[in-house]
Amino acid sequence: MTNYTSIIDVKNYVDQEITIGAWIANKSGKGKLAFLQLRDGTAFFQAVAFKPNFIEKYGEEVGLAKFETIKHLAQETSVQITGFVKADDRSKFGYELDVTDIEVIGESVDYPITPKDHGTDFLMDNRHLWLRSRKQHAIMLVRNEIIRATYEFFNARGFIKIDSPILTGSAPEGTTELFETDYFGQPAFLSQTGQLYAEAGAMAFGKVFTFGPTFRAEKSKTRRHLTEFWMIEPEMAFTTHEESLEVQEAYVKHIIKAVIDNQTSALTELERDITVLENYVNTPFKKITYDDAVALLQENQADNDYEKIEWGDDFGSPHETWISNHFGVPTFILNYPKAIKAFYMKPHPTRDDVVICADLLAPEGYGEIIGGSERATDYEYLKEKLVEFGLSETEYAWYLDLRKYGSVPHSGFGLGLERAVTFITGNEHIREAIPFPRLLHRLKP
Ligand code: 4AD
Ligand code: MG
Repeated sequence: MTNYTSIIDVKNYVDQEITIGAWIANKSGKGKLAFLQLRDGTAFFQAVAFKPNFIEKYGEEVGLAKFETIKHLAQETSVQITGFVKADDRSKFGYELDVTDIEVIGESVDYPITPKDHGTDFLMDNRHLWLRSRKQHAIMLVRNEIIRATYEFFNARGFIKIDSPILTGSAPEGTTELFETDYFGQPAFLSQTGQLYAEAGAMAFGKVFTFGPTFRAEKSKTRRHLTEFWMIEPEMAFTTHEESLEVQEAYVKHIIKAVIDNQTSALTELERDITVLENYVNTPFKKITYDDAVALLQENQADNDYEKIEWGDDFGSPHETWISNHFGVPTFILNYPKAIKAFYMKPHPTRDDVVICADLLAPEGYGEIIGGSERATDYEYLKEKLVEFGLSETEYAWYLDLRKYGSVPHSGFGLGLERAVTFITGNEHIREAIPFPRLLHRLKP
């Protein structure tokens, strides 16, 4: 493998002969010409084989046999292919391979995903193969870039990455969406969030972030919900919510910009308008309180078909879509009612009914990509909240300890990786933002 040139690097080999290990993504041709669409995981690349060249090089018999092999390659056959790199302005990639030799490595018989259109269920059943397609490849490159840029952003600002456990004894984001499992005869739950552990981390290391899989037994079948998703959760000691919002805005802008700069071809493949993304990087995000958002929705009720909303209701996705479209940029909704948010949020200093928190809504109908808050620091307040939320005081004793031994103002947030991928790629559905999605009715492949 080490002797093969990667497709992504062929620009360095113009007019030179190289050998690539690749799969045949597609094939066409007529008469003396065969066109092969190659992919090797780094990129896609067209190769051209010309029959007379083979006969000239290898003689009538061998040359013809080689050309026939090329003409009859089945989709997804793996090959070792040799040829000269030619600059070619007509091809999307800018280069072409003028084939001089080929060797089949692995046959492929009746590959199920053909170039024709397939239904989503079929593609999802074949997700292990669907990942090879151009579009899925482009989405995964964007996902990878967001992850890379995340480490870059937080490392540059002195955050330490800490790993929170996946098997836990608690349900910090509400008891209805838990996956329960048996832990040696005792119930354990798959983690809904790494936050509480990140809070312990912030008290130990100042600024931390977790990045790991989180699990929610969401019964909802929407374009925005997975049952297993990856979350990036920064937590900062001695930090107010105002300051946390600044970090959130800078972080989201950083990942969008990184994708624009480093995955331009992927965005082009996905037909994502880069000027739209650039605008999000260059425009300040909007901030509006929950109170004002409800008032705005009520004022505009007559002209729109979202459901009627009263103060105290949580937003449905049509409400979120309307608000973010109204402003046209990512929008923070501040200070939600206490009753619809998690137990750990800091109560408002002068109002009894709201907490110090924000959700960041992505524009264009992509919904909430971040949830965050300042954290309650008062021991007695949190103890009461646990009772109110039906959570066990013994399970959370360690969390209460954080308020017993040098409690400090602290804030944090969680960005849903797949929501961010869906938004930045401009994709319809969250299921394509993760290699192997877990959904209400899908545990395979
Ligand atoms: O708003 P959530 O529930 O917040 C928390 O879990 C906090 N503990 C975060 C924190 O303050 N450290 O979830 C955070 C984000 C959401 O904004 C959304 O992007 C994503 O996680 N998310 C989901 N993504 C995919 N499928 C689901 N079912 C999701 N639920 C939440
Ligand atoms: Mg939320």
